[in-house]
Amino acid sequence: MKPILIHDEASQDIAKKIAKLLACEQKSFVHRYFPDGETLVRVPAMTGHKEVILVLRLDRPDAKLFPLLLAASAMRKQGVKKITLVAPYLPYMRQDKAFHPGEAIGAQVFAKVISQCVDELITIDPHLHRIHQLSEIYAIPTKTLSAAPILANYIAKNITRPLLIGPDAESVQWVTGVAREKELDYVVLKKKRYSDTKVRIVWDDKIPVKGRTAVLVDDIISSGGTMIEVVKQLRTAGFKQIACLAVHAVFAGEAFQKIKKAGATHIATCHSIRHESNKMDVSFLLAGALT
Ligand code: R5P
Repeated sequence: MKPILIHDEASQDIAKKIAKLLACEQKSFVHRYFPDGETLVRVPAMTGHKEVILVLRLDRPDAKLFPLLLAASAMRKQGVKKITLVAPYLPYMRQDKAFHPGEAIGAQVFAKVISQCVDELITIDPHLHRIHQLSEIYAIPTKTLSAAPILANYIAKNITRPLLIGPDAESVQWVTGVAREKELDYVVLKKKRYSDTKVRIVWDDKIPVKGRTAVLVDDIISSGGTMIEVVKQLRTAGFKQIACLAVHAVFAGEAFQKIKKAGATHIATCHSIRHESNKMDVSFLLAGALT
C-alpha cells in the first residue's frame, strides 16, 4: 500500500504537486482554534494506511508546531506506524547557539520535539552553520536536499552575464553550490551583524561591474537587512541590474518592498515558503527524495 500524503491548508499547493508526482492519495487536515485560543486538529480517515507523508511549510513555526504534534498523535491513534515529515523550510536553524546568557538553543529544542513525534525528516537547504549536519541535533533519520541545481537553472534561463554574490561567509555553501552547477563566476563578501535587522557589508573594489548582472544568492531572506545592505553597495559600485535569489522566502514585515526600494531589479525564490516572489518549483526535488 502506498503512503498517504497529509498536509495543512497552507501547504496544499506544494502537497498536491508532490502527490501527483508520487501518484499517491492526498488529503488535508482540519485546523482551527477554539474561542479560548486552544487548537483543534482533525485528520482524515487513514483507511488502513500505515505510512504517512506529512507535508508542512514550517515558516512562522510557533503557530504550526502544536497542530503538527496533534496531527501526528491523531494519525498514530489510527494505526499509522511511520510519519515522514516533509518540511521544505526547516525553521529555528539560525538559533544554533545561545547568543546571550539565559537563551535556549532553539535549533536543539525544536529538533528534540520533532524527533519525538515523527519518524523521518526531509528538508531543503537547512541553515547549517555552527551545526554541521542535522544528525547532530535530530534523533531521527534526516535527508537534506539542495536547491542549488534549481537556482542555477533559473539563472541560466533568466539572467544574462551573471556574477554571483554571496553576502557573507555563511552563504559560501550556497553560492559555490550554485556556481559549480553552471561554472558561474562568484564572489563572497564579508558581513557584520549589529542586530536582528542591522548589518554592514564590507565591499571589495576589485569586483568586476561592467556589463554584469549582480546575482545575490542566499539561503534565507528574513528581515531583508542583508540583501538591502548589499543591494545598496552594488548600486554605489555601479551595477544597473541586481537580482536577489534565495531558497526560502521568509520576508518578515516589509522586507520585500524594502529590498525593491533599495534597488533590486529582480527577486526570485523557491516555493518552500509561499510568497509573491516564488519563481522556482521544488516539488520534484522533494518527490524525488520520497521515491
Ligand atoms: C545568515 O547568515 C543567512 O544566510 C541569511 O543571510 C540571513 O539569515 C538573512 O537574514 P536577514 O534577511 O534578516 O538579513
